[in-house]
Amino acid sequence: MRRPILAANWKMNMNSAEVSAFTNQFIPLVANADEVDIVIAPPFTLLDRLANEIAGTAIQSAGQNVNPEESGAFTGEIAAGMLADMGCAYAIVGHSERRALFGESSEFVARKAAALLRHEISPIVCVGETLEQRDAGRALEVVETQLRESLAGVSGDQAEQVVVAYEPVWAIGTGRTATPEIAQEVHGHIRSQLSAQFGDAGNRIRIQYGGSVKPETVYDLMSQPDIDGALVGGASLDPIAFSRIVLFQSQRNQ
Ligand code: 13P
Repeated sequence: MRRPILAANWKMNMNSAEVSAFTNQFIPLVANADEVDIVIAPPFTLLDRLANEIAGTAIQSAGQNVNPEESGAFTGEIAAGMLADMGCAYAIVGHSERRALFGESSEFVARKAAALLRHEISPIVCVGETLEQRDAGRALEVVETQLRESLAGVSGDQAEQVVVAYEPVWAIGTGRTATPEIAQEVHGHIRSQLSAQFGDAGNRIRIQYGGSVKPETVYDLMSQPDIDGALVGGASLDPIAFSRIVLFQSQRNQ
């Protein structure tokens, strides 16, 4: 069975005092959640503070981005080795906000994923179609292309370390969650593609859903056969809401 992975993407939010306020509330609420992986991706400036707060717990931290180069004259960028130094176990790559607002291509995302794997950090590789692409009947094709190009540098024995996040752009920050059936259709397609590319290892890769996930919607999403986790934006800023998402098993009939 694939171990569920619930991840918070704080995006460009929070400061150091807010990190401590969050963890003080959140850690006791999830103390018994030992059957899931819990990940928090704060802004880079808060990774050190977060690492101190979560020391001794099973919670893991993640970068929200990475530059594929090892080091050098890349003002403003952060390398994979620097994330490893901060204790990150994961890093998000290819988020739709980076693809849309910063013009990042899948080829660039592939280089980032490869750099992370060199440092034994698991890439959380995001893919997802826009509303226009969905309305044109192209959702599966768009996701398939993004995924193939973004995973181009991943070898068979690295495959299991990768996490894929399906985040339909039209569901991000809009309050419009994909129905569990719509999400499963795409997750099932991603699963076939991963199995075709990586064989058995493809079956062990976890696929998260992201886009307006809330405590009230997480149980039904997680009940789908190929939805193995959630990547949560807005609701992850609230320690109570994110703890309820982590404890998705107890959210049935909410
Ligand atoms: P929301 O949960 O705010 O829709 O954000 C989803 C997301 O982009 C997570 O990476």
